[in-house]
Amino acid sequence: MADSKVVMVSGANRGIGLAVVTQLLGEGYRVSAGVRDPSKMPFPLMQEYSETLAVFQYDATEVDTTAVSSAQGWVTETVARWGRVNAVVMCAGVWIQVPLLHADEADIDLMFDVNCKGPMRLARAVLRVLKENPDGRVVSLVSMSGKRVPGTSMGYSMSKFAQLALHQSIRNEGYNSGIR
Ligand SMILES: NC(=O)c1ccc[n+]([C@@H]2O[C@H](COP(=O)([O-])OP(=O)(O)OC[C@H]3O[C@@H](n4cnc5c(N)ncnc54)[C@H](OP(=O)(O)O)[C@@H]3O)[C@@H](O)[C@H]2O)c1
Repeated sequence: MADSKVVMVSGANRGIGLAVVTQLLGEGYRVSAGVRDPSKMPFPLMQEYSETLAVFQYDATEVDTTAVSSAQGWVTETVARWGRVNAVVMCAGVWIQVPLLHADEADIDLMFDVNCKGPMRLARAVLRVLKENPDGRVVSLVSMSGKRVPGTSMGYSMSKFAQLALHQSIRNEGYNSGIR
């Protein structure tokens, strides 16, 4: 257990994030789960994997008045707990149907904040720590909506195309340090 790799997973309390966490724990990884409300993490899973699952408060949109993000706090707490981070799986995301002629921009702003700027803040917070391993890994749950626009899903796709650009930037800037 002491040598098993440490994986941070955002959006870990439900959906794809929870499925990823469950799979990783079953395969012996240590998992740092980032969730908006830690009380929403399934209690039976926390009991079963009390040694290898740690749950931390993380909100993709939060940045304090000194420009420190919630992501930075989560990375710091993970390193304090286990001394390293080998991989990050970015699952936190929101989907809202916003077609081109929908005038209100609030939903667009939210999707950019959570789907795109949130992972950017997390990547900025974790890149230096990932580079301490020879083989850091970053997985971004983008979507086919980050490659083409299905119907009237303009807003979600705009944020997901941007998330793909972020992901390629992580690859570019981490490549020489072994990050894939
Ligand atoms: N489901 C699909 O078919 C599909 C297909 C392609 C791509 N994706 C992408 O895959 C990822 C996961 O999708 P999913 O279907 O599992 O989504 P989901 O079931 O709706 O879960 C979304 C997760 O994101 C978290 N989240 C939302 N806003 C957040 C914030 N501000 N800070 C931190 N966490 C936040 C949610 O936390 P709360 O419980 O606190 O709300 C939840 O844990 C998303 O990025 C999505 O765009 C999904």
